[in-house]
Amino acid sequence: MSVLVTGGAGFIGSHTVVQLFEHGEEIVILDNFSNSSPDVLDKIRQISGRDFRFYEGDMRDRELLERIFTENEIEAVIHFAGLKAVGESVEKPLEYYDNNINGTLCVLEAMKAHGCKRMIFSSSATVYGNDNKVPFTEDMKTSATNPYGWTKVFIEHILEGVCTSDREFSAVLLRYFNPIGAHKSGLIGEKPNGIPNNLMPYIVKVANGEYDHLNVFGDDYDTVDGTGVRDYIHVVDLADGHTAALEYARKNKGVQTVNLGTGRGTSVLELVKAFEKASGKKVPYVIAPRRPGDIAECYADVSKAKEVLGWQAKYDIDDMCADNARWALKL
Ligand code: NAD
Ligand code: UD1
Repeated sequence: MSVLVTGGAGFIGSHTVVQLFEHGEEIVILDNFSNSSPDVLDKIRQISGRDFRFYEGDMRDRELLERIFTENEIEAVIHFAGLKAVGESVEKPLEYYDNNINGTLCVLEAMKAHGCKRMIFSSSATVYGNDNKVPFTEDMKTSATNPYGWTKVFIEHILEGVCTSDREFSAVLLRYFNPIGAHKSGLIGEKPNGIPNNLMPYIVKVANGEYDHLNVFGDDYDTVDGTGVRDYIHVVDLADGHTAALEYARKNKGVQTVNLGTGRGTSVLELVKAFEKASGKKVPYVIAPRRPGDIAECYADVSKAKEVLGWQAKYDIDDMCADNARWALKL
């Protein structure tokens, strides 16, 4: 029996595959390398000392999915594959809806045809929208402000519908907060294409001299130092959350929604300082206008993750910065 990992060559997927191997799982990966590269697969093999079947292709390719489910006995799917750039989703909504939603439907249809009834889905804290108060709890109303966010909201509803129609189905909707960090080996980590949108990849490019400064988007929020606060979580902790969710899905049916965060908020300037300390590099910054669509604070209530999955984050912001710096700056 194997676990199919869609998007397993990506940032979170690759770390999760490594952690799944530590738990003795058999893995099959599907990825089209639209936002990753084949060398990650060798790095996964190198770190884990384990091998796996890999299928290169698109999750919307029904024939390919049929082949994967026929050639392997898939008992669960951990579903990372998707496009994730907020700004790009505003420019290319149809591409995002097609890839993320249609892609998920194709995977679910193949699962149905082969009697596979467990899915762990990569949702996001973005589904808490702009109107909820921190800390965010799983029972809050969901919404979105851009097509990317709506794909997460819609897919959550799709999986609820699947669980209602099939009482044997188990879906765990994991709402990730802000994953950063990298594997301790320094062999895998985040490698964004082009100009990064997210804070940590941008900090890295300032630290290595590619950009001369970081723009801090706003210093007049009602937060500890006026800059935006987020719940950064080490990607290895996040990966461990998936092994816990998989165990949960094997023992329980129905839909379960769980935040994966640390429950602690860190401001932009606190993250900059922590990165400087961990890397020994300077990160010059200037205060810039607020970024449209940003909220002041975003952090998780993590009590449900502990209660339901028996999982909690182990690493702190210094660990995240040290591991991120080792990977990205090859320290
Ligand atoms: P990533 O881009 O590194 O990984 C996604 C992988 O999916 C890539 O390897 C890409 O090539 C692959 N992929 C995309 N579309 C595909 C398709 N149609 N068929 C096959 N493969 C396809 O992203 P990530 O940061 O690892 O995120 C994984 C998941 O977690 C995504 O669904 C993302 O939306 C979600 N998420 C990420 C974050 C974050 O900050 N990184 C936060 C919340 C949620
Ligand atoms: C962004 C996305 C969100 C997505 C998440 C994880 C937007 C509006 N939101 O959220 O939907 O789920 O990434 O992929 O794009 N910052 C700077 N300078 C920078 C970059 C960021 O000051 O160059 C600040 C931001 O204003 C924010 C914090 O750093 O306060 C974190 O930003 P980012 O890493 O983009 O994550 P989110 O805003 O949480």
